Amino acid sequence: MATQSQDIVGVPLIPASIAANVASPVAYGQWSQIHEDLAWLRREMPLGVAKVEDHDPFWVVTKHADIQEIGRQPDLFRNTRVRKVLLNQETDRMLSAPRPEDSPSAVNALVSMDAPEHGIFRRLTFADFAPKGIKGLDDQIRAIAREGIAQMIAHGENCEFVEDVALRYPLRVILELLGLPRTDEDRMLRMTQEFFSPQDPDFSDSAAEKTGRAMSYDAAIALKDFFDALTESRRANPTGDVASIIANSTINGEPISHWDAASYYITILTAGHDTTSSSTAGAVWALAERPDVFAAVKNDRRLIPGLVDEAIRWTSPVIHFMRTATQDYILRGQKIRAGDWLFLSYPSANRDEDIFEAPFEFRPDRKPNSHLAFGYGAHVCLGQHLAKMEMRIFFEEFFEHVASLELRGSPTRTISRFVGGVKELPIRYRIAG
Ligand code: HEM
Repeated sequence: MATQSQDIVGVPLIPASIAANVASPVAYGQWSQIHEDLAWLRREMPLGVAKVEDHDPFWVVTKHADIQEIGRQPDLFRNTRVRKVLLNQETDRMLSAPRPEDSPSAVNALVSMDAPEHGIFRRLTFADFAPKGIKGLDDQIRAIAREGIAQMIAHGENCEFVEDVALRYPLRVILELLGLPRTDEDRMLRMTQEFFSPQDPDFSDSAAEKTGRAMSYDAAIALKDFFDALTESRRANPTGDVASIIANSTINGEPISHWDAASYYITILTAGHDTTSSSTAGAVWALAERPDVFAAVKNDRRLIPGLVDEAIRWTSPVIHFMRTATQDYILRGQKIRAGDWLFLSYPSANRDEDIFEAPFEFRPDRKPNSHLAFGYGAHVCLGQHLAKMEMRIFFEEFFEHVASLELRGSPTRTISRFVGGVKELPIRYRIAG
C-alpha cells in the first residue's frame, strides 16, 4: 500500500480557491465563505480531490452518507498513527520518519490507533465514559456548572463568555475526572489551546505557525512530563479516578507504559475540553442571536437536550479527521485507490441538505438530529455522553438564572482547521430575581 506523496489522477479536481479554503485555518476562523464552498461541493462535486500547495492531494468527503460509509469500515479506511489529521508535506515527512517510541511527536493517542491496538486501548476506559459510568458524576458536574453561572453573576451584566465561563467549565470537569487539583487549571488550559490550535497566533508558538503543523510539540513535551508524575502517584496511591484506572491498567498482560498512559491522559484532556467549551459557547451565541429560541427553551426546559444536540451540530468544533484507504474502493462512483488520503468534513456533513431540513437554521426541536460532530464508527467520540451531560446540566443552571441575553459585540472564531469554534463571545444578560 502506498502511504504518502501519492498523486491522485483522473478524478474530479476541486477548484483551486475552494481547495485552498478547505485546507485553510483562516477560512474556518471566518466561517461564512467556507460554508458557501462546502455547500457548492455537496451540490456540484460531493467527492472530489483537493490539490493544495505544500500538501499531498486528498479527497474531500462532504456528504453525511459517505462519512458514515467510511466510518463503518475502519479496516479499509484507517486512521494511521501519523496521517489522521491534514499535514503539510514537510510536517508529514518529519512525523512519518522513524523516531523513538517516546518522542513527543508520536503521542500514542487512541484516535491515531487502528485495530487491534485501538480496541485494546479503547476498552480500558469505555465503561467509565458510557452513560452508566458517568451517571454518578451528576452532582459534581452540577456544582462546577453553578460556579460558571456564579462567575457570570459576579461579572454583573456583561462578560466575555468564552474566557470567563466556557473555557473553564469542561476543563474543570476533566480535572475532576482525572483527579487533578484546580491549581493545574491554568497550565492545562494553555497547553490544550497550544496543542489544538497551533495556527492561531493567539495560542501558538511561532515555530508551529510557520510549519502549519497540526499540533505543537512543545505543548506535548510539557504535558508528558506532567503526566509521568501523575502515573507514578496513582500507582503508589490509586484513588479510583480515571487516571488511576489508566495508570494501573495492563496491555497484553504488561503494565501500561508511562508513555502510553501519558498519551491517554493527554487525549482525554485535550479531546474533552475545547470541543465541549466551544459547543457550549456556540449554543450561547445562537441563543443571543435568537430571542425567540431563548424564550422557547426558557419556557420549556424539556428542549434542553435538543438545544445541546443542535449546538453541537451547529458548531461542529471538530473540523476534520483524515483516513487513509488500505485497498481500492468505489465510493459515490469514484475510484479511491489504496493509499489515498481522505478529509472527512464534519461541518459539511452536519449541514448536508439530504439529511437536515433547513440545515443553516438553528432548531433545538430538530428531530432526529443525526449529526456527525462526534464522528462515526469505531472511533466515534468516547466522551460524547459526558459532553452532552455537561452541556445539559450547564443549560439547566443557565436557564434557571439568566432572564435575557444578547450579543454585546462581534464574536470571533478560532483560526484552526482541526479543532475550531468560538474564540470570543461578548454578551450582555440579565440575571433573574
Ligand atoms: C462537543 C464535544 C465533543 C466533540 C464535538 C467531539 C468530537 C470527536 C470526534 C469527531 C471524534 C472522532 C475521531 C475520529 O473519528 O477519528 C472524537 C473522538 C474522541 N473523543 Fe471526542 N468530542 C467531544 C467531547 C469529548 C469529551 C468530553 C471527551 C472525553 C472526556 C472526548 C474524548 C474523545 C476520545 C478519547 C476520542 C477518541 C476515540 C477513539 O479514537 O476511539 N471527546 N471526538
